Amino acid sequence: MRRASRFLGVLLVGLSLLAVGGYLVLTQTMRSWFEADHALRSRLAVGSARQSLADNWHTSRSRLTETLADITRDERIMGAAACSEDGQLLAATESYPVEFSCRSVLERMRSEARKGATSWTMSPELPSGRLHLSVTLFEQGSEAKGAIVLVHDLSYVGRRELTTRNILLATFFIMALGAAAVTLIALRFAWKDWTRELRRALSGEATDEFQPLVSDVRSLAQRLANERVHEASGGRWSPARLRSALTQYLEGERVVILANREPYIHEKTPEGVRAVHPASGLVTALEPVMRSCSGVWVAHGSGSADRETVDRHDRILVPPGEESYQVRRVWLTEAEENGYYYGFSNEGLWPLCHVAHTRPLFRAEDYEYYVRVNQRFAEAVCEEVDSDDPIVLVQDYHFALAPKMIRERLPRATIITFWHIPWPNAERFGICPWREELISGLLGSSILGFHTQLHCNNFIDSVDAFMESRIDREEHAVIQGVRRTLVKPYPISIEWPVHWLNDVPNVVDCQLQVRRELGLPDDALVGVGVDRLDYTKGIEERLLAVDSLLTRYPEFRGKFTFVQIAAPSRTKIPRYLELNERVEAIATDVNKKWSSGSYRPIVLLRTHHEPASIFRFYRAAQLCYVSSLHDGMNLVAKEFVAARDDEQGVLILSQFTGAARDLTEALIVNPYDLQQAGDAMAGALRMPKSEQRERLHSMRRLVSEFNVYRWAGRMLVDAAELRRKERMTGRFATAQPFTPTEPYEEPPVA
Ligand code: F6P
Repeated sequence: MRRASRFLGVLLVGLSLLAVGGYLVLTQTMRSWFEADHALRSRLAVGSARQSLADNWHTSRSRLTETLADITRDERIMGAAACSEDGQLLAATESYPVEFSCRSVLERMRSEARKGATSWTMSPELPSGRLHLSVTLFEQGSEAKGAIVLVHDLSYVGRRELTTRNILLATFFIMALGAAAVTLIALRFAWKDWTRELRRALSGEATDEFQPLVSDVRSLAQRLANERVHEASGGRWSPARLRSALTQYLEGERVVILANREPYIHEKTPEGVRAVHPASGLVTALEPVMRSCSGVWVAHGSGSADRETVDRHDRILVPPGEESYQVRRVWLTEAEENGYYYGFSNEGLWPLCHVAHTRPLFRAEDYEYYVRVNQRFAEAVCEEVDSDDPIVLVQDYHFALAPKMIRERLPRATIITFWHIPWPNAERFGICPWREELISGLLGSSILGFHTQLHCNNFIDSVDAFMESRIDREEHAVIQGVRRTLVKPYPISIEWPVHWLNDVPNVVDCQLQVRRELGLPDDALVGVGVDRLDYTKGIEERLLAVDSLLTRYPEFRGKFTFVQIAAPSRTKIPRYLELNERVEAIATDVNKKWSSGSYRPIVLLRTHHEPASIFRFYRAAQLCYVSSLHDGMNLVAKEFVAARDDEQGVLILSQFTGAARDLTEALIVNPYDLQQAGDAMAGALRMPKSEQRERLHSMRRLVSEFNVYRWAGRMLVDAAELRRKERMTGRFATAQPFTPTEPYEEPPVA
């Protein structure tokens, strides 16, 4: 509407300007016509009276005057005069204006006569009105006698001009209105046509004209829809909201997860087969997602009772008692596990990606196993999908090659790969002998996620340094041929609320229970650390920080106990065995130094703890110290925050964790700075309850909002958007038809 009125305004102004211009040109033209007309009339009038004028020129003034009066009978000639050659007035009618003396008129006549003119006109503006003078030479034979001056009354010209102007303006105005009306009617029809065509185009009917526009409109609509899913009435992300996003945007397609670690490990125990929950941040995050989405989790079957608990397709329904999704177990020979898992993944890639001062070991035979096992898992994934364009979530550094391998089998798949550990800078990554292969494998993904933007940047820099590809920094994408991989940060989190807490006593009971179990007095101050026994976690530094605390703050001696839960991890790797010994040695030293009576400042619990049990420790502690030397995210920090529904307790967090970017109300420390870490522990133990509440309240709000359903939801919604785009650009059309995989053949044991 606003556009139409603007258009009308412009049209009217344009036409008015045209009208004024037209009017000026027209009056000018009319005036010159009138003047020419008067000159002609004058010549005719003088010509017809010539004889009488000649007869009376010098002889009879009265007759000359009569002749002049005859000439002025024409109503538009108001006066006439006869001037002699020397500028004397010979005769004039009464109405001849005295202002026009013969002398001045003849002077002008002479200068015009030199140009050869025999008559001329002038239009002096007088107070009496508009007059026009025409002067005609009067000659007898070849002898100049003087001139006849006729004065014309031009006031009628003014009247005519006024009438002309009015008619002209009225005509232009009517034309303007007519033009505007016609234009608006035409626009209306055109708009109807245009919208009908656009609608047809949007609903998929072929119409070339709008093709470029259609994709823009569609992507805008999709973006708005996505934003609605993210932000609108759905409120906080929850299992229900994640499910509905999956149904709404991915037609409820089942998700296939590929991760090395399985969510439930079946172990043989003296009491029978037991399902164990592994100590793994990856499992902590993804298991709740799978429970709400359903689908299949493809993983290494590593438990002693795993084989006997699966069906003939190596599948088992989990969680026990709930059975909402399947685990598909893949079996590895010992050699495969050694080469792929312990060797290339954990002695090569793990230290490569963590700045924790352990030299990566790259062995060619390990890499061969890594390739082979990636192929095995990729095939297992292809066996589990139920369409030719499935959604596959590939997890972590164990499967850098799998995305490309899956893509080769399923070109239409949407592959979302998440790298749970840091990605080093390009220079550091470049020391890996198979750097190109790893990057190329990951670029088989549709989306590649990291915890932080820094890790995304490092990856893009590595691509830039080692690969032939195009980097679209604006869209955060790497493009190779027709394939585009989005590289984006998706900071991982935990479920909210944490279902394990349903079975955990309240804070007061946990505090009593844990102290009694550890033989501590009821009023003992307790700190807690929970990790896999891994050199990246900074466990040695953590125990040394306890020493620093007790050295510098004697008030805590005999009162403060730090409980370190350290689940054994990757125990076949020498570096981990060495770490185990060092941690034990440090704990022994510190305990020796500060023990008195039954008091020991450090309690080392180096056994596997089930999640519910760990949450009891979180609730029992005054502080939790996460001292990782380098960590992609660290979910222990978020679990501690979730456990403390009493909003008491203090989180001390290494600045080298991804979590430190989110949990800014924690006491952020440099774990290498033992004195600073000791001071932070003292600060935590002395912190007023009100400050503890304030900090925890804020962190709880953040973790509850940015929970793992949001993490998964954002990736799935991005995947849906990507699928939609790929469908629209017709890229899927080139895909090969889906065929089931060949049965897997066991490779020879090396
Ligand atoms: O941090 C990387 C990671 O894969 C985590 O996702 C997980 O917490 C941990 O390593 C588990 O390690 P593993 O499976 O070797 O015990």
